Amino acid sequence: MKGDRVGLWMIGALGGIGSTVSLGLAALARNMVPNTGLVTFLPLFEGLCLNQAQDFVVGGHDIREATLEGAVDDLQKGSNIFDPVLVASCRDTLSEWQANVRPGVVIHCGSTIEKLVSHPGVIISDTAKRALLQIQSDLENFRDRNNLNQVVVLNVASTEPPYPLGEEHESLDKMSALLERRDLNAPLLPSSSLYAWAAMDLGLPYINFTPSLGSSVPALHELAVKRRTTHAGKDGKTGETLMKTVLAPMFANRNLQVLSWVGHNIFGNRDGQVLNDPENKKSKVRSKDEVIRAILGYQPQTLVSIEYIESLDDWKTAWDHIHFRGFLGVKMVMQFTWQGCDSILAAPLALDLVRLVLYAQRRGEAGVLEHLACFFKSPMVKAGRAEHDFFRQTAALEKYVRECSQGKAV
Ligand SMILES: NC(=O)c1ccc[n+]([C@@H]2O[C@H](COP(=O)([O-])OP(=O)(O)OC[C@H]3O[C@@H](n4cnc5c(N)ncnc54)[C@H](O)[C@@H]3O)[C@@H](O)[C@H]2O)c1
Repeated sequence: MKGDRVGLWMIGALGGIGSTVSLGLAALARNMVPNTGLVTFLPLFEGLCLNQAQDFVVGGHDIREATLEGAVDDLQKGSNIFDPVLVASCRDTLSEWQANVRPGVVIHCGSTIEKLVSHPGVIISDTAKRALLQIQSDLENFRDRNNLNQVVVLNVASTEPPYPLGEEHESLDKMSALLERRDLNAPLLPSSSLYAWAAMDLGLPYINFTPSLGSSVPALHELAVKRRTTHAGKDGKTGETLMKTVLAPMFANRNLQVLSWVGHNIFGNRDGQVLNDPENKKSKVRSKDEVIRAILGYQPQTLVSIEYIESLDDWKTAWDHIHFRGFLGVKMVMQFTWQGCDSILAAPLALDLVRLVLYAQRRGEAGVLEHLACFFKSPMVKAGRAEHDFFRQTAALEKYVRECSQGKAV
């Protein structure tokens, strides 16, 4: 909305995506870059009055003692992706936003993420209650000091290992009763979910761009509806999985039988370093692997590998080998190689999500935003099965946008 001041609070603000989103917003606000890569700048979205880059103030949590400017410089040094003139022009905004970055929470994130902690103010191994209070106080300070009309929380922190849900996560009452539990071997929730809980309890929307548990907990679904706020996730669909959900419908619609689908991924950034831990990797592999069966309706043999190759920095290569059977039983092969820069692929999608979630919040929507499925590898749903076919997902988003543009209730 024109004249609005909105806050973007990123969990993992100093990471590759966090710093690229910040630089991107600062550059867009100065009209220094085109909006290429941003879905929400397509003509379809013109009727929605989405926030412009100039409206945003950035803040966030991180666990490392670093700066936004330093994070941008590191990406530049390793991956050579930013125009130095653009970085120089945006430095003052990055340093202004740096004042809004606070030490975060590391509870049940696994030892690899714990090793990243370098800020002395980070809350480690404490009760859920203490973590929630600190996160909420940081969010409220950010909103009040900056006179923000709205704040949206975006999780772009390192991927946590999978977290098994229990009976206590089924309802808000059951979960709230354990807020002060001190059993360090059985923490109530991992950090990604504590951030989601804290945000949504304040009525702020939460987006999970990672495969971590985040808000995909029954009790947190209940909270979102109760507090009339929204959430969306999980795991941004930026590269290889995007290709899978574009190509698998083709095989299905041409009645070609996929026999096996092998995807090898190599990349070298900090995300890759964290995913090199087999426990953290499990969350990502699960997210990347489930789409094929969901689209085809049967399970061909699949293999997803993710390997950390340090020298590649933020540049990722995925090589996929699809073995399929056609007419008269003849076996054939399709292969593709995807080479992209992780942060450059992810940052515009994160911004699209932020703009659409802020819009939905203004419309008074509540609960999971299912129309955003095309942005995620593992889309959350209110009930039933998630749609993975990229074309159907895009059609659902288009339908939502058209109905909103015509002022219809959706
Ligand atoms: N194309 C993509 O890059 C892409 C696509 C989909 C999903 N993701 C996911 O997005 C996330 C971010 O990716 P990235 O490349 O920016 O990673 P990154 O390692 O560069 O950044 C992650 C940041 O999170 C911080 N962090 C870790 N645990 C935290 C916690 N508990 N609280 C606050 N901060 C914490 C780290 O210090 C780091 O600065 C990862 O989970 C990744 O799997 C990335």
